[in-house]
Amino acid sequence: MRHIRKTFPGVVALDNVDLELQQGAVHILLGENGAGKSTLVKILSGAYRMTSGQIIINGRETAIHNPRHAQQLGIGIIYQELNLIPQLTAAENIFLGRESTLKSGLLNQQKMDLSADLLLRELGVEIDIHCPISALGVAQQQMVEVAKALSWKARILIMDEPTSALTRPEIKVLFKTIRRLKKKGVAVIYISHRLEELFEIGDQVTVLRDGHSIGCYNIADVDQPQLIRLMVDRELHDQLPKVQAERGPEVLRVEGLCRRDVLHDISFTLYGGEVLGIAGLMGSGRTELARALFGIDPIDSGQLFIRGAQTNIGSPRAAIKQGIGFLTEDRKSEGLVMGLTVKENICLASVERLSRLGLVDSQGERRAASGYVQDLRIRTTGLEQRVMFLSGGNQQKVVLSKWLCCRADILIFDEPTRGIDVGSKVEIYQLLNRLTAGGTAVLMISSELPEIIAISDRILVMRHGRIAGEFTAAEATQELIMECALGVANAA
Ligand SMILES: Nc1ncnc2c1ncn2[C@@H]1O[C@H](COP(=O)(O)OP(=O)(O)OP(=O)(O)O)[C@@H](O)[C@H]1O
Ligand SMILES: [Mg+2]
Repeated sequence: MRHIRKTFPGVVALDNVDLELQQGAVHILLGENGAGKSTLVKILSGAYRMTSGQIIINGRETAIHNPRHAQQLGIGIIYQELNLIPQLTAAENIFLGRESTLKSGLLNQQKMDLSADLLLRELGVEIDIHCPISALGVAQQQMVEVAKALSWKARILIMDEPTSALTRPEIKVLFKTIRRLKKKGVAVIYISHRLEELFEIGDQVTVLRDGHSIGCYNIADVDQPQLIRLMVDRELHDQLPKVQAERGPEVLRVEGLCRRDVLHDISFTLYGGEVLGIAGLMGSGRTELARALFGIDPIDSGQLFIRGAQTNIGSPRAAIKQGIGFLTEDRKSEGLVMGLTVKENICLASVERLSRLGLVDSQGERRAASGYVQDLRIRTTGLEQRVMFLSGGNQQKVVLSKWLCCRADILIFDEPTRGIDVGSKVEIYQLLNRLTAGGTAVLMISSELPEIIAISDRILVMRHGRIAGEFTAAEATQELIMECALGVANAA
């Protein structure tokens, strides 16, 4: 890709960007939230039309008219936001739009099922292909996306943050697949904010900043601090700046919580000023616990005490009234209203707090929202920009701001830094420090073990819907947490 330029109304997303891919190599695209990574790959996948520039494939200048055309050219993409149809099965999603038919015109279900099964097995994952997508976890959905791209026999495979929802064992499976594809000569474009991954899987790296290409390097020639400097263009001193807050009084106590076969006898206490980390594998019950506490899913038995008083939380509304905020893992369907503006989304959960005598205080709203836009470096053309036009990481920052703004005193965060660049992560950790210093209690689910260890005061590890262990920040190591999450000794 040469001299690529792409403008949107009021934004130059890409300006004179070059990218050169080689057969059988993994090319990393690196840059802060809003730098233009997704825009660049969407041009290659036919989703966006470039304003100007050239695309040259195997030495020939090629125009890419639309996504289908890109697929025919052997370009496959796994988008940052999953694009599967929830009601359809894995097999149906994989072959969507080019189903095999029998001579009679009927669908050849058997053939599709067989090929889908084969593809998934080749990836080394076990997924029931008859299961509707909505019943699969995010990680499994991610694998179905990979299978779908592979079914096109892609020669260029683009992965936009494929691991943001995966835990370590699943990432290993994905990397094994990528290595296999490399051997077959596939060129891979790989986007991720998890820097340690880049060194594990990448061959070259192109750094984007503000829509410009800063440079292309061999991975072997650069190290992590160098890459961060190229990306953010400012010094980041401490990447995990934990400040110990004083432990306040008990704010939440859970006793013997059970729900169907997903939560078993969960008991713990959360104190003011504390960050309580929740670790565990995909499907271990972390998100289910958060949903039950926030009143989304009913519980079958157990008791909940908020500030010492026994409480029933029957709905999210009741939870918010009790001072609980919940940042969900699925920002696209649960966290944001895509058609509303940045300001409206940030103020959504604080309407009561920000209104006086039943009238919305629009000045107060503006002030609150612009504070977060500044603090978290949300890249937007303004408070009135609709969130659907923000980059993935910037959307995540808006959801986060929404819950920070509502001044809840119990915050439940499910993967708060997913898809967020290194620089902004530091700002978020600092905001967390400010909140806990003010007595807020935070329950944080995270799949990034270094993050959970650095930011939490205590860590609970879940396995099969139970609490399998508890560690203080001082004693926790990645190995100990992994052993506990897997239920085996010496897992490392
Ligand atoms: N459809 C659109 N309309 C208007 N602006 C857009 C649109 N898509 C992207 N942009 C803008 O283009 C810029 C680059 O966005 P892009 O999604 O490429 O960033 P990114 O590098 O993928 O970031 P992230 O790490 O957050 O995913 C951002 O400022 C974004 O707001
Ligand atoms: Mg993106």
